[in-house]
Amino acid sequence: MYTQALNDLPTPHNLEDAEKMANFQTRIDSEDRIEANDWMPEAYRRTLVRQISQHAHSEIIGQLPEGAWITRAPSLRRKAALLAKVQDECGHGLYLYAAAETLNASREALMDQLMEGKAKYSSIFNYPTMTWADIGAIGWLVDGAAIMNQIPLCRCSYGPYARAMIRVCKEESFHQRQGFEIMMTLAKGSARQKAMAQDALNRWWWPSLMMFGPPDTDSQHSDQSTRWKIKRFSNDELRQKFVDATVPQAQFLGLTLPDPDLRQDEVTGNWMYGEIDWEEFKQVISGNGPCNQDRLASRRKAHEEGAWVREAAAAYAARQASRNAA
Ligand SMILES: [Fe+2]
Ligand SMILES: [Fe+2]
Repeated sequence: MYTQALNDLPTPHNLEDAEKMANFQTRIDSEDRIEANDWMPEAYRRTLVRQISQHAHSEIIGQLPEGAWITRAPSLRRKAALLAKVQDECGHGLYLYAAAETLNASREALMDQLMEGKAKYSSIFNYPTMTWADIGAIGWLVDGAAIMNQIPLCRCSYGPYARAMIRVCKEESFHQRQGFEIMMTLAKGSARQKAMAQDALNRWWWPSLMMFGPPDTDSQHSDQSTRWKIKRFSNDELRQKFVDATVPQAQFLGLTLPDPDLRQDEVTGNWMYGEIDWEEFKQVISGNGPCNQDRLASRRKAHEEGAWVREAAAAYAARQASRNAA
């Protein structure tokens, strides 16, 4: 809206917006943090709401495939670690919904959009978790990719989002380590255990690369997000960093990445990877992945089963308020 306004004939109102816009960009350029009560362009607010809410939904939906393994974890130690991780993901969702609320997007409205199937979340969470090794592969790869994405967000220009990311990243690093440790135990175990780890890697590798989003040539929102310092690196840059960090880890585990085209560039040292199946990504992100329907059904069921908690909290708050008034 404001960018168009700048192209219109100058009216006093538009002039004022143009001045605000210029001041806003100056603050961004000087690495100033934008806070909830500061003036911001409507498009900046909308971009953040879109990004933060997609991130929040991903955390909330992301608990589901792993939560399904809490009762089947192979030891008490594994169960305790997985339980803690799943609780962390729930907490990440809550910080993020709170950050979106500072931009006037209500948590209830965002949750309704998710349950109506109208909201986007990370494509990775629409794949099934078939064996215990999937829990290792998710921690290692999915949380590893999340860290790559989220470390730069600790320097995002919007204060509430950036601050939420600092704690989130610390917890993600614990998740990545617990996943890698599961993979290491399996990879160094019996032949069957190693085969299970390899199978999980085969299934999670490509979806993990898709997590960074479409290639830079197709990415619609990147330029403006970069100018506003919401985004610090492009999708392809982050994907490359992730591949470069992960290849030596796979070698250490003695596992093979399922990409016959993978080779190290002699000049840059970067690991060059094969073609990503963007058609699969498009299908999964638009609701046709292997588990989209299951995930939304699980989320709706959890929401319905939690209705009594929300009602009890509302009744308690109402009683406290009437006591205080009395
Ligand atoms: Fe998380
Ligand atoms: Fe995580």
